[in-house]
Amino acid sequence: MKETLIKLFKDAGERYISGEELSRQLGCTRAAIWKHIEELRKEGYQFEAVRRSGYRLIKSPDILTPQEIQYNLDTERIGQTIHYFKQLESTQIVAHQLADQGETEGTIVIADEQTGGRGRLGRVWHSPPGTGIWMSLILKPNIPLKMAPQLTLLTAVAVARAINRVATDLDVNIKWPNDILINRKKICGILTELNAESDRIHYLVIGIGINVNAGPETFPHELKKLATSLKAESRRSFSRARLVREICQNFETLYNIYLKEGFTPIKHLWEAYAILIGEKTRIRTIDGEFSGTVRGIDEDGVLLLELDNGIIKKIFSADIPLE
Ligand code: BTN
Repeated sequence: MKETLIKLFKDAGERYISGEELSRQLGCTRAAIWKHIEELRKEGYQFEAVRRSGYRLIKSPDILTPQEIQYNLDTERIGQTIHYFKQLESTQIVAHQLADQGETEGTIVIADEQTGGRGRLGRVWHSPPGTGIWMSLILKPNIPLKMAPQLTLLTAVAVARAINRVATDLDVNIKWPNDILINRKKICGILTELNAESDRIHYLVIGIGINVNAGPETFPHELKKLATSLKAESRRSFSRARLVREICQNFETLYNIYLKEGFTPIKHLWEAYAILIGEKTRIRTIDGEFSGTVRGIDEDGVLLLELDNGIIKKIFSADIPLE
């Protein structure tokens, strides 16, 4: 009922909808409509009520409920099922549980706050309430296990394109494998976890964390030099629900291309966002430290580093510091 009511108001735009029309459209009494409007007000929706004209929606809150994300969402699979929580330890944990229980591909788990957000390489992911996007996407691609990292790169492109759509003035870059940067500071991290057996992928859980409306002063001291948010870079706030919707749409478009044509078209798009290509860098891996010039990625999404002696070294996993 509430979802239908929100949709009616959003579709109406500036127009007032009379109590009579609302009760007709929703098939309930005017008293019931009034009760729902009061509930929505408590969630942060602002309505204007004018005698004889009715109600109109003047402001929606910046919340990540399914009804906000799915309004005008034009996808077949990605984001069609959304599990929203006000607070979770980690959306990754819940997404794994749901995927184990057979949840469908494209399902999203999203939380306003995480108390134990997980980052790459066992790190903690700072996930305060009200300002970020902390979401996990369940995928069930029929691809060999070794190709799974390609989907992390695809996700980075989808997020970069989504940010481009909502913040056209910002220059977005990707740092291999999957950090999204603005002005060389990280605004988004991606964590891919998978459940597989021999060469068969049961499912992937792709975790996406984006700093959206956090003020620069809210970052913990150790992150201030390295991390930023969309708001800190552009001095304005963004609708988190709209950004999630853009991610879903861009992800689905790229995923369909990937499943049909393979990684090559995605690789080209990824390279267009890549930072570091042609730059000299020092990379720490579990096999030791290597210094050289980044030459790009190969068809599997593996980083190619030209060592100082001219040999091309394939880097499968690493954390590249920005000088
Ligand atoms: C990184 O270290 O760069 C990856 C960070 C990934 C964070 C996201 S937030 C949503 C999802 N749930 C988690 O616990 N982690 C990922």
